[in-house]
Amino acid sequence: MRFPPEFVDRVQEANNLVTIISQYTTLKHSGAGFMGRCPFPDHAEKTASFSVSESKQVYHCFGCKKSGNIFSFLRDYNGMSFPEAVEYLADKAGISLPVVDDPQKNEHYNELQDKKKQMLKLNKTTSNFFHETLKRVSLDHPVKAYIQKRKLNPETIEEFQIGYAPKEWEALSAHVNRQGFSAALAEEARLITPRKEGNGHFDFFRDRLMFPVISASGEVLAFGGRILEQGEPKYLNSPETPVFNKSKTLYGLAQTAKWIRSEDSAIIVEGYMDLVSLYQAGIKNTAAPMGTALTAEQAKLIKRMTNNVVCLFDSDNAGQQAAERSLPLLLAAGLYPKGLTLPDAKDPDEFVNKFGVEALKQKIDNCPELFNMVLQMWMRDYRGEASQKVKIMDQVRPVFDAIPDKRLKSLYAQELSHRMNVGLDWVRAALTAPLDKAAAGRGPNDYSTADQGQAVLKNSEIPARKPLISISGAPHAEILLLQLALKSRANFELAVGNSNQQILSQISHLGIKTVFEKAQQVYRQDDSKFDRLTSLLIEYVDAPELMFSNSSDLDEEKEKKMISDCVKRIQQSFLKDQAKKMGQGINKNDTEKLKEIEVLNRSRISLNKTDKKD
Ligand code: GTP
Ligand code: MN
Repeated sequence: MRFPPEFVDRVQEANNLVTIISQYTTLKHSGAGFMGRCPFPDHAEKTASFSVSESKQVYHCFGCKKSGNIFSFLRDYNGMSFPEAVEYLADKAGISLPVVDDPQKNEHYNELQDKKKQMLKLNKTTSNFFHETLKRVSLDHPVKAYIQKRKLNPETIEEFQIGYAPKEWEALSAHVNRQGFSAALAEEARLITPRKEGNGHFDFFRDRLMFPVISASGEVLAFGGRILEQGEPKYLNSPETPVFNKSKTLYGLAQTAKWIRSEDSAIIVEGYMDLVSLYQAGIKNTAAPMGTALTAEQAKLIKRMTNNVVCLFDSDNAGQQAAERSLPLLLAAGLYPKGLTLPDAKDPDEFVNKFGVEALKQKIDNCPELFNMVLQMWMRDYRGEASQKVKIMDQVRPVFDAIPDKRLKSLYAQELSHRMNVGLDWVRAALTAPLDKAAAGRGPNDYSTADQGQAVLKNSEIPARKPLISISGAPHAEILLLQLALKSRANFELAVGNSNQQILSQISHLGIKTVFEKAQQVYRQDDSKFDRLTSLLIEYVDAPELMFSNSSDLDEEKEKKMISDCVKRIQQSFLKDQAKKMGQGINKNDTEKLKEIEVLNRSRISLNKTDKKD
């Protein structure tokens, strides 16, 4: 959906960047704005160098140089697309989405949004119902015994809103009906199933310990239900619904996202119980896929919070397979994956119960890179035979192809050369040689799974952003002029206002010139928009950090002086350039041209003189 620009403006004006960012870092008043520690996970800092301007609605980190407006923050921090960010902010401000030209499309769209909202409400009601039911059942109920057996304490049950789905066939059906939800909605949310005969419904989850799957922003998306005794299926998971996409969801984020950010690392476990049990034991920076192998989308979700991942795998064949599949996928997302399988325990939950949480923490702190772990699995029977070397190269090739970082690639190539005891040159050549299609994907570990992973990634790649105006590489005086002009209305007038019209034609850098032109357009239309200029321009430039000056505490007089210095320097370079251009290819008899050059040079010299005077 494309939103009209006026709508986007309205939404932006109705929200406050300071409020949004305050959700993720503590901001304190400082000078004309706010300062805090940079919230971005790749910039873990101890001192506050992240500034937010409330009047201009922009942020800038003096440490890592990230800067932007409310939309770029939601994109870079929360991974939202532009339309998602607009919708999110509109919703926050209670603004309803605009009616678009195509009434059919719009109706359909609004209907779907409406339905999703209703479904999330229904899921929340359902989650409460299960949770309340668990709290109400008698002490001798089997679910209580099960909870005790799994050592889940009351705080954990509260924190994760764990519940119990009653044994009866229509307990939830009746409850949501009483709450005014239609059977059709509950059926589409896959909470109830129509009976084959007659027209009634029965509950999808019955007699199970219920784990609601809650998004980082608190929406109940789906459920997983564990059987209390032996039986099949052990876990029953919600099928996909309009609000639940398995491959894009990670379990636990509602509780763990903040820990992943603050620890700057995510520990990936396989199941609900592992996650809950580790959390209870004090390892809180975790996430779990939805009973399937990790997907590229989930890797991206992690990448929004941290660059560092530790995968805990069950110590069985399935665990090994999961490690092999995850490796190229995590690398392709630009993450730094480590891997760990736990000896003498089926899974992390059992490990913690057997050996204690400290033992696990220690293992996590010392675990190897996932690349090395997988390589070790592949080299289990390695005896240095030539054919083995070739086979291993076939196996690692897709892994290498998935790595975007050249430096990491080259280090891993060294690792290979070292472990296989072959020359680095041979490894490099083998990694870049044209692929023998017949050979690739054969062997003990067919790599087709990894190929699938990469295909998923390609399909869901973040769409290219609009072409940006390049301002990097502009002369210092022109960048400085831009920075100063954006600081205050008075500066802007002085730098490029009516009394200084010619400056735009004298700026040499095309990008800076375009930015100034855009700024003037907006400013002329409505000069009350001055404060929003920076936030607007940030969207268009390739190096937004250049728009922020590092000296925030200059007084007015000094700024004025700097502006006129910049203007002068820009004029000088302009005149010098002009003279040079004219000088090229004219002959001595062209007295007209020579005179012009003379005039240009003189005005340049006179500029120089006034320079020296003041
Ligand atoms: P516990 O046996 O309760 O400790 O479970 P676990 O968390 O150790 O789960 P396990 O390793 O057996 O499975 C990992 C994840 O796979 C679970 O959390 C579920 O999401 C999923 N899963 C397990 N069993 C089934 C099943 O029978 N059907 C489906 N659809 N998913 C399952
Ligand atoms: Mn388990």
